Amino acid sequence: MLTKGHNELLTRVGPGTPMGDMLREYWVPACRSAKLEADGAPERVRLFSEDFIAFRATDGRVGFIAEGCPHRCASMALARNEGNGLRCIFHGWKVNVDGECVDTPTEPEDRRAAFAKKVPVRRHPVHEAGGMVWVYLGKQKTPPRFPDFEFNNLPHSHVRPMRGLLKCNWLQGLEALLDSAHVGYLHAENVKSFASTMIGSQETTEILLTNGAPNFEFIEQPYGFREGALRPGKTGNTYARIREVALPYFSFIPGRFNGMGTACCSIPIDDEHTAQWYIAFNIDNPIDKERFRTLGMADINLDYFNEGMGDFANMWQQDRKAMKEGYWSGFVGKGNPHEDFAVQESMGPIVDRSKEHLGTSDRAIVTMRRLLLDATRAVEHGEAPPALDPQTYRGVRPHDGMLRGDTPWREAMAAELVAKW
Ligand code: FES
Ligand SMILES: [Fe+2]
Repeated sequence: MLTKGHNELLTRVGPGTPMGDMLREYWVPACRSAKLEADGAPERVRLFSEDFIAFRATDGRVGFIAEGCPHRCASMALARNEGNGLRCIFHGWKVNVDGECVDTPTEPEDRRAAFAKKVPVRRHPVHEAGGMVWVYLGKQKTPPRFPDFEFNNLPHSHVRPMRGLLKCNWLQGLEALLDSAHVGYLHAENVKSFASTMIGSQETTEILLTNGAPNFEFIEQPYGFREGALRPGKTGNTYARIREVALPYFSFIPGRFNGMGTACCSIPIDDEHTAQWYIAFNIDNPIDKERFRTLGMADINLDYFNEGMGDFANMWQQDRKAMKEGYWSGFVGKGNPHEDFAVQESMGPIVDRSKEHLGTSDRAIVTMRRLLLDATRAVEHGEAPPALDPQTYRGVRPHDGMLRGDTPWREAMAAELVAKW
């Protein structure tokens, strides 16, 4: 449980809030790279309660500026995208891809160039990796080192980011991604039906469904922490799921299937809306499109994959009859994200954490809250937040596996927990 004050501190992300200031110091995914076409439609991006425009210029570079035109604030989403910049359709003012105002054609010709030079434009540095456009919104002149997570080092063909829109606060989204204990309950039917493709062997599936109270071990890491969720089975073997948590909003799901893993993050759009990213990546091979076809996820909208999923009005399409017949969650055939989103949104736009009763299985969540609160305090005191610039993100590598007998997971899995690059 948290005090109401700490809950406010953790959940409010607008300009000038301690959490908002802290989160802005990290590189943040803004939109899919493929969404931006050279000289194509600019993309509206809302982050931390502020509105921006991302666009790909004629030469392929990406510009990232405040949404409102510097003249009289018409949306630059309506602008013409041409000649390496956006030209506002209202009075023709132009901002180039570097974020400079380069033309103000409504001014007298003799003073036009000098006038344009003096018009300030809010712009931010971007970096493309992992099939996404990332942006730095913080206050430092030089952004922190870009997080070279394993998926950010792969060719575009090996990465498939998709984004869901969650109608609640970002911390609810993040905390579901840190919660190992719910897999055998909320996702029970998916664990069963995807046993051979999603989770692994019959043995691991059985353990997941029968051991609902894993033992947790934590190791602090330069980027955040590593969590081992250990589930002893009846045969004396232990199923170990090793999650990686990278501050401030990344959770790497344990386990890979045929080389494919998943990184997730919860990015605040504003206090009551969240972009929930699921980044599938294959270390060795291009993404297997057929596999997504098998999962019924081949033709989804990658920028809003949960569009139309519902809300309290239709109980997120929950099927009571199926529940009576044994389907645990009632979200028949909907997949894990649908189930996660429904329970997260059902808590309300910003859950009151002073009403919670936390147990042993919530330790990862408690750890993360403490790290986030410490980080906001550091930024309030003028210090850099933690885990901003670790030497390397090679160690952010989740894993899962069966351990025979008493084998200690840290030693047994050491080689698997470090990326090869
Ligand atoms: S509002 Fe954009 S040019 Fe006037
Ligand atoms: Fe989940």
